[in-house]
Amino acid sequence: MANNEKCKNNAMDNIKQNTFELHLKDALIGMAEMADKSFDLAICDPPYGAATKANWNYEKSKKVSGFGGDWNLNSEEWDLLTGNDNFKQSYLWLKELKRLVKPTGSIWIHATYHNSGFVNVACQLLGLEIINEVAWYKRNAFPNLSARRLTASHETILWVHTGGDKRQYNFNYDDVKKASFAGDNMKEPDKQLRTVWDIPNNKGKEELIFGNHPTQKPLRVAERLMMISGIKGGKLIVPFAGSGTEIIAGIKYGMHSVGFETNQEYLDLAERRIQFEIEKIKGQLQL
Ligand SMILES: C[S@@+](CC[C@H](N)C(=O)[O-])C[C@H]1O[C@@H](n2cnc3c(N)ncnc32)[C@H](O)[C@@H]1O
Repeated sequence: MANNEKCKNNAMDNIKQNTFELHLKDALIGMAEMADKSFDLAICDPPYGAATKANWNYEKSKKVSGFGGDWNLNSEEWDLLTGNDNFKQSYLWLKELKRLVKPTGSIWIHATYHNSGFVNVACQLLGLEIINEVAWYKRNAFPNLSARRLTASHETILWVHTGGDKRQYNFNYDDVKKASFAGDNMKEPDKQLRTVWDIPNNKGKEELIFGNHPTQKPLRVAERLMMISGIKGGKLIVPFAGSGTEIIAGIKYGMHSVGFETNQEYLDLAERRIQFEIEKIKGQLQL
């Protein structure tokens, strides 16, 4: 069967079944209710904590071994760095994802310098091996108005897996190698994808017709993550759903997608966007 046909059939099966679940719920509470190894992929776009004023407070009562030598810590594992909610939260939701995502799957985490260090450290402490660190280059980034800093023009995306030394995570290597992406000057067809992605941050009209979310990601970023590591017919978890971008990418790829969001307004926006996309897919498939 041609690849296109297979893709259509997967999307069709997915729409006929229960395509997505979106919960108005704190991700930590929602994830705690789910079974071990029940997901094939996670895409996380957490709050970056750009406003966090970190209050580092090391004491010498506890140790964490295996992290470039022993580190002294002052409390239990959920309180590794007192006063730093960003680190604590990152650690806690990554710990849940380690339990939920199968060793054959993987986890993507969006970050900027505000949270990338916390996420990186948390992954290493939890034994989530970092497969790649991607620099998403935003060539149309907004200029720095203060003239006191460089123009921030990239975000970091970490790709990690839960499977330890066995490294069983899915990588759709051939699809990715074949691909080219409109407007990405870093990728040529039949060349391996590099860890620098040239993806402008603007969104298409259709991505914004129902309103927008302050940190909404362009759909094509999530679609690239799906192409790399998506598992057709599998299950995707999106702990911080926002306006639903990653859930839409999951559904389009043919994955049953589960999301959590704590803000009712964003949840409504996500639902409207997702339903619109589902109607579009149905139309294309003439269901
Ligand atoms: C960076 S945004 C995600 C944006 C999303 N990628 C998009 O394209 O729309 C993070 C979202 O997580 C939500 N959020 C924050 N804390 C949460 C929590 N504990 N559980 C679930 N959602 C949470 C916020 O309301 C926000 O909408």
